[in-house]
Amino acid sequence: MSAAAGTAMRFDPPAGGLSGTLRVPADKSISHRAALLGAMSSGPVRVRNYLHAADTDATLAAVQRLGAQVDRGAAPGELTIHGVGLHGPRELDGPVDVGNAGTLMRLLVGWLAAQPGRAWTLDGDASIRSRPMGRVVEPLRQMGARIDARDDRFAPLAVHGERLLPIDYPLPVASAQVKSCVLIAGMASGQGASVVEPQPSRDHTERMLAAAGAPIERAGARVTIGRVDAIDLGDVAVPGDVSSAAFFVAAALLVPGSCVVLEDVNVNWTRTGFLRIAERMGARIGGELEPAGAFAPVEPVTALEVGHSPLHGTTVEAGEVPLAIDELPLVALLGCLAEGETVVRGAQELRVKESDRIATVVDGLSALGGDLEATEDGFVVRGRGPGSLRGGRIASHGDHRLAMLGAVAGLASREGVEVAGMDAAAVSYPGFVSDLRAVAP
Ligand code: S3P
Repeated sequence: MSAAAGTAMRFDPPAGGLSGTLRVPADKSISHRAALLGAMSSGPVRVRNYLHAADTDATLAAVQRLGAQVDRGAAPGELTIHGVGLHGPRELDGPVDVGNAGTLMRLLVGWLAAQPGRAWTLDGDASIRSRPMGRVVEPLRQMGARIDARDDRFAPLAVHGERLLPIDYPLPVASAQVKSCVLIAGMASGQGASVVEPQPSRDHTERMLAAAGAPIERAGARVTIGRVDAIDLGDVAVPGDVSSAAFFVAAALLVPGSCVVLEDVNVNWTRTGFLRIAERMGARIGGELEPAGAFAPVEPVTALEVGHSPLHGTTVEAGEVPLAIDELPLVALLGCLAEGETVVRGAQELRVKESDRIATVVDGLSALGGDLEATEDGFVVRGRGPGSLRGGRIASHGDHRLAMLGAVAGLASREGVEVAGMDAAAVSYPGFVSDLRAVAP
């Protein structure tokens, strides 16, 4: 690996396999929630291992502008948040800038919509402005919120807080962001809310609220938050991000001779779909995963031990998609180097991520010699086996997960890969390249 001009970087196959032990950065989803629910808390909230990356720093900046005081501790990622309480966010002169962070935009709007008599504007970068916001605007309007959106469904969003009504909302998409938005709005309104999920999605909001003493319950597919006046999050320790770990899992599986250990990784079952898919493809992965269906206020962690493994194709159906949503680009890469066909269905949500990840992944990996094609709701990969990826050049399109996918593809290729726009990785994993160098010198 060596740096090239600008933000383009080359990633070549390492001489030996990947080896070593790594602690991946803190979980992005849990960090967003720690900052937001910390800002809503009445007492001080101590956070250990907060993720400092572009997305989650945008969340800290946002809650500070809204009135929360954030003190940094001596250790990296250590914070104390003095929140403003459920009803205390202050009005601002200009818009709240969410940057590239969909989670921040969609969770924050739920909180602000429930503040009668106050108004805010939420805006973000070009990617955020192209992503669907109708999915949060719609249920909030049903609760009585007043929200103006560009073309009625895109950012910027102008939010006029109102006294909201309770809701029992069947989610039209299996989205943790929409689920969290409605639950937070129901909590901040003091009225409560229920959502019904078409398929399970990540449940960090529910677990954190349960830990904060909020009256939250799951009954089958329905999640309900009851009436509550105040929350108190207390202490939060953010575990390592399994979505960041997944890049090293994939690299170790694909590069012959590899064995890596990833410490302190969150293995909440609503996040480990990729590990189960990889195991179905033949991956050898050590570590104790949380059993499916578990619901506890604590976030489970384990050390993952991953060794190079011969892989074969698999099929991923819609029910599994939300549990592996951010790792599906890696399933495509594993599929290219596996034997046989890999099919992903029911993943149309990939089209509205930081980029259209069906198009960017299929075009990107095809340009490197992969044999795959896009479908409306996923992709079909014809695996050509180990050593079948030539290499070449891939663009990140400003999408952090595409940038890191390109780097891993380079390690697993014959001729190496140049990634244009590698800097996008900083959205979730600023130290990605140096961590990769540490295990694949
Ligand atoms: C996230 C939920 C997922 C995921 C995103 C983070 C979250 O999005 O893709 O990276 O933190 O709630 P959706 O809820 O839109 O599926």
